[in-house]
Formats: sequence, structure tokens, C-alpha cells
Amino acid sequence: MIRPMRAVDCRDIAAVHEASFPGFFLSTLGTRFLALFYRGVCRSPQGIAFVHLDGGGRPSGFVAGAADPRGFYAGLLRRDWLRFGLAALAAVVRRPAVVPRLLRALRQPSVNPPGGEVAGLFSLGVHPREQGRGAGRELVRAFLDEAVRRGARRVFLTTDRDGNDAVNGFYRRCGFAVGREYATPEGRRMNEYWIELP
Ligand SMILES: CC(C)(COP(=O)(O)OP(=O)(O)OC[C@H]1O[C@@H](n2cnc3c(N)ncnc32)[C@H](O)[C@@H]1OP(=O)(O)O)[C@@H](O)C(=O)NCCC(=O)NCCS
Repeated sequence: MIRPMRAVDCRDIAAVHEASFPGFFLSTLGTRFLALFYRGVCRSPQGIAFVHLDGGGRPSGFVAGAADPRGFYAGLLRRDWLRFGLAALAAVVRRPAVVPRLLRALRQPSVNPPGGEVAGLFSLGVHPREQGRGAGRELVRAFLDEAVRRGARRVFLTTDRDGNDAVNGFYRRCGFAVGREYATPEGRRMNEYWIELP
């Protein structure tokens, strides 16, 4: 079952994020930081977020993004800067190796494409025990339907180009096509995918 994400889901969603993105930068910032991020998406008027529930009614997958996404991350941080700051500090104390990447994210925040006709899909994850059973596709469909409802004409997302064939295959199966390739300052080669909405 798919339903809109609620602020009370955000601890569970953070746990699903950590399980589905092991070793990724945001996961290294910890449950508290992730829960704040997803709560911020739920509360933002621009935010678009859904959860997938397992047979027992617990969140086992999620999708999160925003309509008119330019400036979205900066807005989230501005609105809740103290809590984000404390959560980031806790992550630094736990794992000092995150510092260079964290500083880079603050100095060079990722710039989303502009425009009220654009929506960005920032994060999609299904718990490993539920993968391959259609939850990811249903979450993407719910996200695209809501983006249409908000007046978007196109949706973009980014994902790693290398060593990530399953995810790239998944997005192609969902109808996305690569619009641009680029490299992050850390040298990660990325695909930027787009889909035109009806
Ligand atoms: C990517 C992810 C969200 C997909 O969710 P999922 O529930 O496992 O995917 P689904 O079961 O809904 O699969 C949907 C379609 O993609 C296809 N697909 C899945 N894996 C694939 C692969 N390796 N290659 C090609 N197609 C693939 C499925 O066959 C299915 O197509 P069909 O319905 O026509 O048969 C999930 O695997 C995940 O959370 N991965 C880790 C986190 C991540 O990398 N997220 C995305 C990064 S932005």
C-alpha cells in the first residue's frame, strides 16, 4: 500500500534509508539527520513524499522530492538550522571522516534545475527485504501522479552512472531517459534522468 508520508513516519523512513543506501553520504550522517530531512520534506509546501507499507503496516519504502525544487535544500536548512546543525555535529563526533564531504556540501550545495514546471525526485528507497516486488515502481508512479497534480511538466533525478546498473535499469523501465551526464567534485560520474509528464 502507498500513502502520503507523514511527519510521524520519519524515524522509520530514516531506518529504511540507512538499510537501502548503506555507505552513502547521507546515511553516514545518521538516523537523526535523515529523520529531520524527511520531516522537512513532509512539512514543506513544495515537498512531495510517499511511503510504501509492508504487510504489517510498517513503512518499507519511500520516495521524496519537491515541486519547483530550486533552492529547496537551502530553505530546509534555513528553517531548521539549529536541529540540522546539532544532528550534523553528532555525526561528526561519531565519524570525523564525514567532515570534508560535509563542508563541501555546505560550500557547494547541489543546484536543482529551476522552474515551476519542474519537479525533482531526490530520494527513493525500498528496504532490501521488499525489493523486486513492485514497490519501487509504485512509489515512482505515485510521485509522478502528484507532480502532475502540482502542475509539473517534467521530473528529474540523479543517480550514479558507474557500478549502479540495477538502479539505472530500474529508472529506464520506469520511463526516464538520461538528459545529462556530469561528475561531482569527488569525481563520482552521475546520470541526470528526465521524464516528460502527460
Ligand atoms: C531502486 C529501487 C528503489 C527499486 O525498487 P524495487 O521495489 O526493488 O523495484 P521494482 O520491484 O518496483 O521494479 C520495478 C521495475 O524495475 C525493473 N528492475 C528492477 N531491477 C532491475 C535491473 N537490475 N535491471 C533492469 N530492470 C530492473 C523490474 O524488473 C521492474 O520492471 P517490471 O515491473 O516491468 O517487471 C530499490 O532497488 C532500492 O531501494 N535500491 C537501493 C536504493 C537506491 O539505489 N535507490 C535509488 C537511487 S536514487
